[in-house]
Amino acid sequence: MSFFLTSFIHLTKRGTMEEVIKIKGGKKLSGVVNISGSKNNCVSLIPAALLSKGLVVIHNIPPISDVYRLVDILEKCGVCITYTDNTLIIDSSNLVYKDLTMPEMGKLRASYYFYSVFLGLFKYVKANTIGGCRLGDRPIDLHLYAFKQLGANIIEEDGTYIFDGTNLKQGHIIFEKSSVGATVNAIILATQIKGKTIIENVAMEPEITELINFLCEMGAKIKGKGTNTLIIYGGQEMHGVEFSNIPDRIEVGTYALIGASLGNNLKIKPVIPEHIQSLLELFNVLNINYQIKNDTMIISASPIKQGVVILTSPFPGFPTDLQQPLTTFLSISNGTSVIIESIYHNRFAHVKELNKMGANININNMNIIIHGVDTLNGTIVSGKDLRGAASLVLAGLMAKGETIVRGLDYINRGYENMIVKLKKIHANVEIVSMELEEQ
Ligand code: UD1
Repeated sequence: MSFFLTSFIHLTKRGTMEEVIKIKGGKKLSGVVNISGSKNNCVSLIPAALLSKGLVVIHNIPPISDVYRLVDILEKCGVCITYTDNTLIIDSSNLVYKDLTMPEMGKLRASYYFYSVFLGLFKYVKANTIGGCRLGDRPIDLHLYAFKQLGANIIEEDGTYIFDGTNLKQGHIIFEKSSVGATVNAIILATQIKGKTIIENVAMEPEITELINFLCEMGAKIKGKGTNTLIIYGGQEMHGVEFSNIPDRIEVGTYALIGASLGNNLKIKPVIPEHIQSLLELFNVLNINYQIKNDTMIISASPIKQGVVILTSPFPGFPTDLQQPLTTFLSISNGTSVIIESIYHNRFAHVKELNKMGANININNMNIIIHGVDTLNGTIVSGKDLRGAASLVLAGLMAKGETIVRGLDYINRGYENMIVKLKKIHANVEIVSMELEEQ
């Protein structure tokens, strides 16, 4: 009896083995970072591909876990997928209806793009609520509003939605605020309904423009691309297409901030400058040493001599997805900076971790107040969401000594081969297994 008790105490104290990122900071980084295809774009292209019964070929799809989860969902619905060399071939000729209640649906937020696809195709969807990073409340009222404007009847009970599309019809949607996800769902559903649908106050992120390009190449008729009002002439015959995903602007931004902290003529490519205009404007204000030649950014470490005030806002404003890496970047500086996080009420988990490393950051409502310090010091820190974990990797690269970053699964959701890419530019970083207490 006492033997078992002792073993039990021993086990709980020792914790469990976990893969973590070990970083020895302070190394200058040079060479080339090859940017992968956009996560946020491909997670809408993949479900939207089901609108065509012909073969859909999409190049530049990053092998990240969000993509694998979408593929799992497709395969459960009878879709035949080939995924080699970052090219995804989707053959949905044998697509069958399945309730969207499988566990994969809960693993990423963008799985809700299947709601609009299935509602249009099968006129009925039973679905459970969705996953994604915990950034505070993430309601889907705007999605539901758009579906209702297009004639859907929706019943919500105990975390399950029943969408009835028997009476789907063209409609007029006026979003009260800009939402990427709700815009995607509205476009996908309207594309499948005969007649003219107008959608006002749509999100204008580059990923929306690319979704429209993709659908139009499959046969959809959508006017107003790049503006905040879209007119969709739905119900067109959709055919197969071959399409290329755009470079991931958030990955570009993350490596650009790594370059601005530690780069020695670090090259990042391909870059579409218009997609990162707000970041480039910030770099200009901060006198960051960078240039863009053709599709390549070349960037070197530049000390931050002043504070700045930055507001996150929908595109073309500064992206909330770069707020966390930017917080890290500004933590070593000669000034006090403020980032006003206007999109998410709780995207601040990284701040506590950065403070453990010697940063001096407070949160006041939605304001992140960053008092610049001279150095960060390595320690064990935990990423609690995708971009937060990336911001801690940046902190580890900047810090003195050794940093252990927990939360590798989050990184793998959205950054293709981050550790391999960092090693290639001479960062001292590796994945190791460590025994750590459960969080
Ligand atoms: C997308 C991106 C995410 C990014 C975010 C904001 C994808 C897969 N994800 O997420 O990386 O951080 O845009 O740029 O593209 N809202 C509502 N009701 C709704 C929907 C949203 O109130 O029905 C609110 C959200 O809580 C948030 C704001 O609107 O405060 C913007 O969210 P939204 O643009 O919808 O973000 P996502 O599409 O989830």
